[in-house]
Amino acid sequence: MKTLLSVIILTICLSTVHDSKRNVNNRVPQFSRLINGNPTTIDRFPCMVALVKVYQQNSFCGGSIIRKYWVLTAAHCIVNNTKLVKESILEASDSFKNNQVIVRGNTTYDDGSEAYKSDHTVALYLFHEGFYKEGDKITSNDIGLLKVKEPFTGVYEKTISINYHEREPAYSPGWGRLQFDPVIRSRRLYYIVRYKVDHTTCVFHLAMRGVDAEGKLCVFSEYSTACKGDSGGPLIQNNLHLGIVSGGDPGCFVGNTDVYTNTSSYVNWIKSQIFKHESYIG
Ligand SMILES: *[C@@H]1O[C@H](CO)[C@@H](O)[C@H](O)[C@H]1NC(C)=O
Ligand SMILES: *[C@@H]1O[C@H](CO)[C@@H](O)[C@H](O)[C@H]1NC(C)=O
Ligand SMILES: *[C@@H]1O[C@H](CO)[C@@H](O)[C@H](O)[C@H]1NC(C)=O
Repeated sequence: MKTLLSVIILTICLSTVHDSKRNVNNRVPQFSRLINGNPTTIDRFPCMVALVKVYQQNSFCGGSIIRKYWVLTAAHCIVNNTKLVKESILEASDSFKNNQVIVRGNTTYDDGSEAYKSDHTVALYLFHEGFYKEGDKITSNDIGLLKVKEPFTGVYEKTISINYHEREPAYSPGWGRLQFDPVIRSRRLYYIVRYKVDHTTCVFHLAMRGVDAEGKLCVFSEYSTACKGDSGGPLIQNNLHLGIVSGGDPGCFVGNTDVYTNTSSYVNWIKSQIFKHESYIG
């Protein structure tokens, strides 16, 4: 089982490395960078962390600090095919040694200098039992949690509360791609301003693609979009966690409706998972 799991993790990681060769017409749920975003600094989004593969030092997804030891992210950042995995829990073990995931937050997630690093080793990976792909490869229940070994105590490592009220506009930060093709990457944190699409329009839009709107948010920005690498990152409004970057246009073209996980729909799931694994220390 351990070997199988490590193969899956490696596959996800490779799929994000070779993303530039991806067929643009083939819809995939993964994102990687923010298109037409604005450069920003970590003090503005201190809950924001990058998920980094140790051996490649590349941020493949984002996440948010929601507790001293916990990061909220997208399930597809953890696993890409639940059919291959019986348990919705993956333990970091020696078999992951070469592709160990670490969590790291700062304006520039890695500029090569030790001073900027604040690494947190992932001890436990959890994803929603109901995670699956549907319709046009849009993922459902695209939510996951990472428990880290070293607590978040840094100046720019702050927890964010989960949203219970809805207000607009909202902000979506990420280290994702700045241009899809040809690829332009940035190690600098960027953000875009997003607007929520009203519920009726969202239900209609997703129904056209054969997808259920349950647990999802439709968001839109006229001139910008999330892209590969931004997955798992938060949608923030008034310092509350509203959504998780989940899926959108595979070629990162602007002007399309993007689909985020509605964090509020999963409050009970998050609480129960954290409670269940509170004593787990890896
Ligand atoms: C998901 O994993 C399978 C093998 O487990 C791989 O063939 C496929 O390319 C992966 N898909 C994505 C989008 O990463
Ligand atoms: C982030 O970078 C600053 C320098 O800009 C550094 O002082 C700090 O220790 C780094 N790490 C964290 C966790 O804030
Ligand atoms: C998100 O979930 C909350 C809680 O279930 C719900 O009240 C809210 O209407 C949902 N938002 C959308 C846009 O579906």
